[in-house]
Amino acid sequence: METLAIDGGKPTLKRSDYKNWPIITAYDRKYVKQVLDSGIVAGGTAPQVVALEKEWAEYTGAKYCLTTCSGTAALHMALAACGVKPGDEVITSAFTFLASASCAIHQNAIPVFVDIDPRTYCMDPNKLEAAITERTKAIIPVHIQGLPADLDPILKIAQKHNLFVIEDACQAHGATYKGKKVGTFGHVGCFSLNNFKNLCGGEGGLFITNDEALL
Ligand SMILES: Cc1ncc(COP(=O)(O)O)c(C=O)c1O
Repeated sequence: METLAIDGGKPTLKRSDYKNWPIITAYDRKYVKQVLDSGIVAGGTAPQVVALEKEWAEYTGAKYCLTTCSGTAALHMALAACGVKPGDEVITSAFTFLASASCAIHQNAIPVFVDIDPRTYCMDPNKLEAAITERTKAIIPVHIQGLPADLDPILKIAQKHNLFVIEDACQAHGATYKGKKVGTFGHVGCFSLNNFKNLCGGEGGLFITNDEALL
């Protein structure tokens, strides 16, 4: 039997087989140059920012979209919009990137973890209700590595307890649950545009909602 690469055997892939991400194309260069040439490189009314918000809202099927400096900021902004206060509890998945929980700490709230379904690696809806207390204000299901969390039972429990649902779709651009884009099921959907994501802007984030008050 061949020795595995991890034990000193011959690796299947050479270093040169690994590709850098993102792949930067002539199309990207053209539009980045256009932004630089316009002299407007920042701000909520910058034409490319406004265009991105419009396109992302259309693409996801949400009414509204706002850009942020990161997915973390979008999640924090969502908690603030939902009125999460110091000492409130915010439930999220136990298997995720740290920002799904640290956004609660940014708001002086307390992250509470619900374990995952080992089959999907997403929050186990069967374990959700046991984590709810009178301090719980919001649930942040995470669509981990592109796989949507099982939203129907999560939304049902949230409705029963009058809780906000903020979808952490930072790893799930374009993913669908029962035919509809994730991010549009809860009160707010959050996306990351960091340099590891399949929709990559170096750094950045997107906040979507159908609720004008939350916007
Ligand atoms: C599940 C999840 N939530 C939140 C974030 C935070 O996004 P950002 O790095 O843009 O702040 C990430 C980024 O890796 C993520 O994977």
